[in-house]
Amino acid sequence: MSQKTPLTASSIIGAWLDSEVGGPLVRGLLAASGAGEETLAPLRGLPLLQLIALSQGQMPQSVVDDLVRAANGGVIPEEAAPTGWVEKTTPGRFSGKTVIVTGAASGIGRATAARIAREGGRVVAVDISADKLTEFAASLEGHIEAEIVTVAGDITTQESVDAIVAAAGDRIDALANVAGINDDFSPLHETTDAMWDRVLAVNVTGAFRLTRAVLPAMIAAGAGSIVNIASEAGLRGSASGNAYTTSKHAVIGMTKSAAFMYGPNGVRVNAVAPGGVATGIPFPPHVSEAGQARLQPFQASIPTLATAEQLAASITFLLSDDGVNLNGVVLSSDGGWSVQ
Ligand SMILES: NC(=O)c1ccc[n+]([C@@H]2O[C@H](COP(=O)([O-])OP(=O)(O)OC[C@H]3O[C@@H](n4cnc5c(N)ncnc54)[C@H](O)[C@@H]3O)[C@@H](O)[C@H]2O)c1
Repeated sequence: MSQKTPLTASSIIGAWLDSEVGGPLVRGLLAASGAGEETLAPLRGLPLLQLIALSQGQMPQSVVDDLVRAANGGVIPEEAAPTGWVEKTTPGRFSGKTVIVTGAASGIGRATAARIAREGGRVVAVDISADKLTEFAASLEGHIEAEIVTVAGDITTQESVDAIVAAAGDRIDALANVAGINDDFSPLHETTDAMWDRVLAVNVTGAFRLTRAVLPAMIAAGAGSIVNIASEAGLRGSASGNAYTTSKHAVIGMTKSAAFMYGPNGVRVNAVAPGGVATGIPFPPHVSEAGQARLQPFQASIPTLATAEQLAASITFLLSDDGVNLNGVVLSSDGGWSVQ
């Protein structure tokens, strides 16, 4: 990196590591936390500030600010043009459409809902976290032409499903089932009933109930697009614990069956299988030691982590009319992990 391009929070981690000034700073921080440089290998293409979401509170904004100051003689310089991939919206791609997005208050769902709203769509944004939803809707105020409707609720309850459909109104053009939770990496014999029930309820049953509720409007209209968020764990056994892996395989089965059944009605049903994504998706307080130890070498081979906005690019492609000829597809959006 030349002296004229300062290292900032938006500079990619690869640029920090390769810099004479930034490299030692980042390595010092890693060493202090007991981690080696190899942990950053899949993150080289991500902006430094993504570490805030990824670290789940371990690395606050102030640490990033301190790094930027240390690399720039004590001041935070103006942000230069961002390096790496930059989201480019397609104006009007969702104009006149109503799109329901679950899990819209955080991570992949939030990036998807924001992109649809900025591309002209009326978004019904659903999440169990009312506070985060309110903050999200406020962040879009003044930046969008269509309405954003928030529904705070738990997608596993019929009451919330009814509220979502009522908020959408007569016209439902698309649905993105993004809300999901992690398991505790446990192998089958360690999996508790509570873990199994909750992971299956949110990741599968919630998406099933909401899809069942929106289909009549789509069938009546003779058109609709549904995208279910699966995972690398829906494609292989080595990406997560038993409950999550089961749930994401089920999401793919549900996608294929519905695609087959409703294709003749003009309804397309597809899945996106993300690899690693830099979001703050929480893990349960206790993670299985045996499961984690077995998974670790395989998770270490993830080629790259993506940003939530990069996943939103894949999801909105399938949701939009650009996905016109696609039905029953499982789109791996994982930087190539699934071909390893
Ligand atoms: N982050 C990754 O690396 C990754 C990888 C593969 C797949 N995925 C999948 O992508 C989806 C989104 O994950 P993320 O990383 O953005 O996570 P996230 O935790 O940032 O966002 C998920 C959102 O869903 C909401 N939610 C959880 N349970 C809910 C419920 N019962 N009802 C309504 N809302 C609920 C949460 O409040 C949260 O806002 C999930 O289905 C996840 O399994 C994520």
